[in-house]
Amino acid sequence: MTRDEALALDAADALAPLREQFSLPPGLIYLDGNSLGVLPKATAARVQQVVQQEWGVDLIRSWNTAGWIDLPQRVGDKIARLVGAGPGELVVADSTSVNLFKVLSAALSMAQADTPKRKRIVSERSNFPTDLYIAESLARERGHELVLVEADELPAALDEHCAVLMLTHVNYRSGRMHDMAALSRMAADAGALTVWDLAHSAGAVPVDLHTDGADFAIGCGYKYLNGGPGAPAFVWAHPRHAERFWQPLAGWMGHAAPFEFTPGYRPAPGISRYLCGTPAVLSLAALECGVDTVLAAEPLGGMAALRRKSLALTRLFADQVQASCPSLTLVSPRDDAQRGSQVCLSHPQVAYPVVQALIGRSVIGDFRAGDTSHPAGAVDILRFGFTPLYLRFVDAWDAAEQLRQVLESGEWQRPEFNQRQAVT
Ligand SMILES: Cc1ncc(COP(=O)(O)O)c(C=O)c1O
Repeated sequence: MTRDEALALDAADALAPLREQFSLPPGLIYLDGNSLGVLPKATAARVQQVVQQEWGVDLIRSWNTAGWIDLPQRVGDKIARLVGAGPGELVVADSTSVNLFKVLSAALSMAQADTPKRKRIVSERSNFPTDLYIAESLARERGHELVLVEADELPAALDEHCAVLMLTHVNYRSGRMHDMAALSRMAADAGALTVWDLAHSAGAVPVDLHTDGADFAIGCGYKYLNGGPGAPAFVWAHPRHAERFWQPLAGWMGHAAPFEFTPGYRPAPGISRYLCGTPAVLSLAALECGVDTVLAAEPLGGMAALRRKSLALTRLFADQVQASCPSLTLVSPRDDAQRGSQVCLSHPQVAYPVVQALIGRSVIGDFRAGDTSHPAGAVDILRFGFTPLYLRFVDAWDAAEQLRQVLESGEWQRPEFNQRQAVT
C-alpha cells in the first residue's frame, strides 16, 4: 500500500470524526492505547467540575445531589453495553486484580458447593501475570491447584477435575483472541465455570458475555476505555450467579443498606455486592468520559464498526512491516478471527532499544520481555495497540515506515535507547 492509499482510506472512513474527541499531542502516533488510552477532551473539564463545584462547593452533599453514590452502577451500565451485559449486571470498582480475586473466589465457592471434588483452576501459561498470581494465591489458600497449559491444550485440560477455567480473552503479549463462545461451551460441558479477563477486549473487540455463555468477567478502565492512569476496573457476574455467594471482600458498599450501620453483613442484591469500599469519585468521573468516547461510536455502527476498522488497521500495519522489516517476526495471528486489536512483533536481540528509538521518533508502542521460564514465550516483544477511535490509516502506514527506518539506520544502537527504564 502507498501512503496516498492510506490517506484515501482515512478520507472514506465514517469513524474518522471520533478522533476529534481526543486531546492527542500533535505529531504523535500513539500505539499504546492497549496500555493507557488517550485523554478524552471532555475529561479535564469534567474532573475540574467535580473538583471545584461538586467537591469544592457542594462537599458532602454531592454524594446525593451529584449522584456520586450511584457512579459504580451508572458507569457500569455504560460499560455493560460494550460487553453484552444487561443493565444492573456490571459495576465499576477497585482494580482488575482485586476484582479477579472476588470473582474467582465466588466461582471457586460455587464449584466447592456443587462439585467438591473439582480442585483445579485451569489457565493459559502466558496469561497476564497478575491473573496467575491471584489464582496461585487463591489456590494455595483453598487447597486447590493452578494448572497452566498452552492455548491449544485448553480443551484437553477441561476435565472432571477442573473447577474454573480462567482466561484473558485477548492475550496481552501475543494479541491472540480466544473463542469465548467455544471455550465457555466446552467448560460448561465439562461442568466447569468460566472467568474472563476483558482487559484487552472491552472497547476493542465486540464481546457478548450472555450469548457466549460466560459466567464471570472483569476488566480494565484505563486501556481501550480511556479512563486515565489507574482508572477503576469493572466486574460482572452472570445474574444467575451474582447472589449465590458473598464475595470475600465484603465491605460496607456491598452491603444491602450501608447507611443502616448494622454490625452484621447483609449482601446487596445482584452485582452491587461486588462493591467493597467508598467509590473513587474523581477516577470514576474520568472513566465515565472515557467510556462515553467509545459509546459515541454507537450511531456509527458501534463495536462492530470499530472492530472492522481495528482489523483493517492492524492488517495494514502487519502487512507493511512484513514487507519492509525482514528482521521482525509477526507474533500476532494473521487470521482476523484470532487477532485482538494489537500487533506484536518479535526481534531476537534488540526489541527494547528499537521500541525506545521509535518513541524517540514520537511513535509510541511498548516492549514486553520474554518469559524465559518456558520456550514458547521466551521471545521479547514489540507491542503496538491500535485504538480505532483515534487512529488513522496513515498513522499505521507512517508507524511501519518509521520502524523500517529505525531498523535500517541502526539508530536503536544509541546508548540512551539501551537503558532499561522501570516501566517498559
Ligand atoms: C490482562 C490483564 N489483566 C490485568 C491487568 C492489570 O490489572 P490491574 O488493573 O489490577 O493492574 C493487565 C494490565 O495490563 C492486563 O493486561
